[in-house]
Amino acid sequence: MLVNGRHYRTIWMEEDGLVRIIDQRRLPHRFEIETLRTVDDFIEAIAGMHVRGAGLIGAAAGYAVHAAVMNSGGKDWRGAVERECEKLVRARPTATNLSWAVKRQLDAIAGAENREEAVRISLETAEAIADEDAECCRRIGEHGAGIIAEISRRKKGGTVNILTHCNAGWLAFVDYGSATAPIYAAAERGIKVKVWVDETRPWLQGSRLTAWELLQQGIEHEIIADNTGGHLMQNGMVDMVIVGTDRTTRCGDVANKIGTYLKALAARDNGIPFYVALPSSTFDWDICDGRGIPIEERSGDEVLCMEVTAGDGTVVRQRMAPEGSGARNYGFDVTPARLVTGLICERGVCEASEEGILSLFPEKRPSIQTSI
Ligand code: MRU
Repeated sequence: MLVNGRHYRTIWMEEDGLVRIIDQRRLPHRFEIETLRTVDDFIEAIAGMHVRGAGLIGAAAGYAVHAAVMNSGGKDWRGAVERECEKLVRARPTATNLSWAVKRQLDAIAGAENREEAVRISLETAEAIADEDAECCRRIGEHGAGIIAEISRRKKGGTVNILTHCNAGWLAFVDYGSATAPIYAAAERGIKVKVWVDETRPWLQGSRLTAWELLQQGIEHEIIADNTGGHLMQNGMVDMVIVGTDRTTRCGDVANKIGTYLKALAARDNGIPFYVALPSSTFDWDICDGRGIPIEERSGDEVLCMEVTAGDGTVVRQRMAPEGSGARNYGFDVTPARLVTGLICERGVCEASEEGILSLFPEKRPSIQTSI
């Protein structure tokens, strides 16, 4: 996607063999690129949200395993890599792409004859994870744009008003984004779109990141306080909701940024379609009931304090709440499948149900054991 007219991915490797990321803590005021060398660098970047969003966390994990192999040595290099991976998967618990990418890397290097071969394989795998993430999002855009086009037709070419929560844009992936990809694709087709951006307390992914992205792509948008969506829906100002997800169960329950569930309830009450866009790497094929999804709890300080980056790059932290008050900071909630109109995946749009999901991904159907 474009930053000041130049194309960037959110993570890439340069010729020096080192990985670069955009430090998302500093946006929208400063566009800073950070270099990651060791697995500890990657863990700090993921846990500290220099990189964030399910797809990008997965891509970062892919490069982190490559760094683990590169930095390993001695007879027990495999053991060293596995120990680094155990630390890595604990960096953030909800986004399933993290453990998915680590497992994919470990499976890929399992057959390597020696460390040098594992270096080559892990690099190829990391690049493949990143490329596939971008390609999946591009396809999600194509499928989702069809839904927006249909609403636009019903409105006789009038603006399609889309509400989104958090940042499921290209900053949350390697490129394009999930929830934003259909918006970008629809705009490219000449469809008029306007995005309501939930500010997304406490980390403000919406007002800091989604708004910045939409601005860069020239998409009409306005930022709203998180509690505004219901009012807009009651007054006919929202035609559809599109959000991303950090983990969706094989039966269609959706974990996403805290507050998503309330938007789904309001959308249902007002008869507004509520779509979730995701690449298949975000499905957790092992669980059906979303209540089994681990929900990350972050420091209460994120709720109690605000951080502002000044023009010169200095970060000012100000406590908003009274000294002595505590806070609870759940990062995600779970929207039950029954509130989801449809899932927009790289293979098409399906119902948020086990049958619906398996109709797009039949290879995930459990094989039937026959006994004679
Ligand atoms: O805590 P974050 O910023 O990593 O949370 C991100 C979200 O909740 C996104 O909506 C989600 O990752 C889906 S898009 C990849």
